[in-house]
Amino acid sequence: MKNLSALQQNLTEKGYAFVDGVPPQSIIDTVITGFRSLIEEAEKDENFLKKWSFDLSKTSNEGVDDGLIRRSGGIHDKKYFFHYRPRLLKLLEWSEVDTTDYKEFLKACDVLYKHSLGLACSVAEKIMVPVNDNETQPLSYFISTEASKNQHTLRLLDYDVKNSVEEFLAQPHADRDTLTFPIADSHPGLVLLTRDGSQFLYNQKGYPGQTLVFGGKKLFTRMGGNIIYEKIGFQSDLQAVPSVFKYIEKFEGGQITPTPHWVRLPDGMIGVKRWSIVFFAHDATAQVPEKPGTIYFPELDKKVA
Ligand SMILES: [Fe+2]
Repeated sequence: MKNLSALQQNLTEKGYAFVDGVPPQSIIDTVITGFRSLIEEAEKDENFLKKWSFDLSKTSNEGVDDGLIRRSGGIHDKKYFFHYRPRLLKLLEWSEVDTTDYKEFLKACDVLYKHSLGLACSVAEKIMVPVNDNETQPLSYFISTEASKNQHTLRLLDYDVKNSVEEFLAQPHADRDTLTFPIADSHPGLVLLTRDGSQFLYNQKGYPGQTLVFGGKKLFTRMGGNIIYEKIGFQSDLQAVPSVFKYIEKFEGGQITPTPHWVRLPDGMIGVKRWSIVFFAHDATAQVPEKPGTIYFPELDKKVA
């Protein structure tokens, strides 16, 4: 492929890149204040949580959910998250949820969503993907389709407090989406495994006015990559889910390999509550195989342990 943009080159060769633009701090503050308030109410009242949760996995081909979601263990890391995409406003309205106290919060979520989608489009404009043997097309063509619009997600995360730097707030994984934008966080903790096998501990303060971006599985398959799952044994240390097989996830071919990443508390941050805001941009037409079970990262085994 000729004339790679600097951005495409960084995503290919390093596994991440930066794009100019950050949202106003006041918007982030409003979003986090509202999110915290929602969690507080949900902790007090299970019905409140139910009202603000929309599980659309039965009606969507992507297993997506909207609104406030609590994950409470099993194979998942314990956390609250909130998914915002514009259709949430309709879902809240149709379900007659009282949003009086959350008008500013929802408005700020929408601002943040649109800001992030703008970043995604400007990045996608600079990435050329093959459409056949002779032709390439900007990635923005795929992430701007109607189907993709229902999948882009602004995710607010509130992690469970950990008492050891050894524990993960998010286990090593690669994202299913096309482009991931870590928009803001309370403090560092996100670590990327870069192409040369080194770890990049992202500290947003070191990149003023810029936003980090890295690729997920849909970008990889869109650019000709194959994802293969190889069964390597039985996962016996997960007592909550006793019959799960371990797999190695292999990325073959393609141009921009998905970037494995995880979240852990940095030194000196034990017991500190962490929040983060991430935007996931999707190419709804890209095919990604269903993850079969627990994924094992042999290349991380020594480095992360
Ligand atoms: Fe992720």
